Amino acid sequence: MKTTSKIKEIRDFLSVENIGEIALVPTMGFLHSGHLKLVETAKKHGDTVVVSIFVNPLQFGPDEDFDKYPRNLKRDLDILRESGADFVFHPEVAEMYPSDLELDISLNSMADVLDGVKRPGHFEGVVTVVNKLFNIIKPHYVTFGEKDRQQLMIVQKMIEDFNHDIEILVVKTEREDTGLAKSSRNTNLSEQELLEAPHIYESLQLGNELIQNGERNVAEIVAQINVHINENTSGTMDDLQILSYPDLDAMTHVDSDVIIFIAVQFEKARLIDNLRVKVND
Ligand code: PAF
Repeated sequence: MKTTSKIKEIRDFLSVENIGEIALVPTMGFLHSGHLKLVETAKKHGDTVVVSIFVNPLQFGPDEDFDKYPRNLKRDLDILRESGADFVFHPEVAEMYPSDLELDISLNSMADVLDGVKRPGHFEGVVTVVNKLFNIIKPHYVTFGEKDRQQLMIVQKMIEDFNHDIEILVVKTEREDTGLAKSSRNTNLSEQELLEAPHIYESLQLGNELIQNGERNVAEIVAQINVHINENTSGTMDDLQILSYPDLDAMTHVDSDVIIFIAVQFEKARLIDNLRVKVND
């Protein structure tokens, strides 16, 4: 496995003839088994797997956890060596952003909901860095996880709108045995919060159950999920929305497939999760 923090060097590594099709796994590091699922998927499709590790300052708001975001490059590289990644690109901030950007990518309606509203500028930061990574690595495939579903949908749209010739490989959310979605941010939970956090997924399942049992009133489902989180965790509900699938339109009555999106704020970590619910009638 070859590693570099330099754009020129990763380009040189990838410009040899027998590199074949490249699959990119973009990450912010502090890897867990969810990331390894991404690498596994990348290996099934690409001849060469490139993992990027970069905690992108552009996608963090001024009051968010950029400084507290967990980092451990040595540990990540050890894990990736075992996983069979071929190249790791781990630039410093100054390598990716040597000067202030003069051009911005702005988003329209897809960022008018959920984290687009809760985290102003977040998705602009994500698409900017992903766009740069696409131009540096020139992948044929890129992996994205369903846990960050809004991100996945926005990147999919960016690929279409900007004519990147790249296929997204969508990977299911990797969960602990308790149901808690794997996330690097879980390491910022206290012991007590770690016991409570699986209730996030339980509350999504509660929403699914209510819908499968015929409940169609969105306000009622939202109320019951809120109660579940309040009664079982010390976290506060930061966002809870039931939106149409795939358009993410707001609704008061569930009459087609939906996605339940949730964000719970614990002391040092904001955890997100979502569940797609199929509606049969
Ligand atoms: O999902 C992430 O880890 C990040 O948002 C990404 C896609 C690596 C861009 O910084």
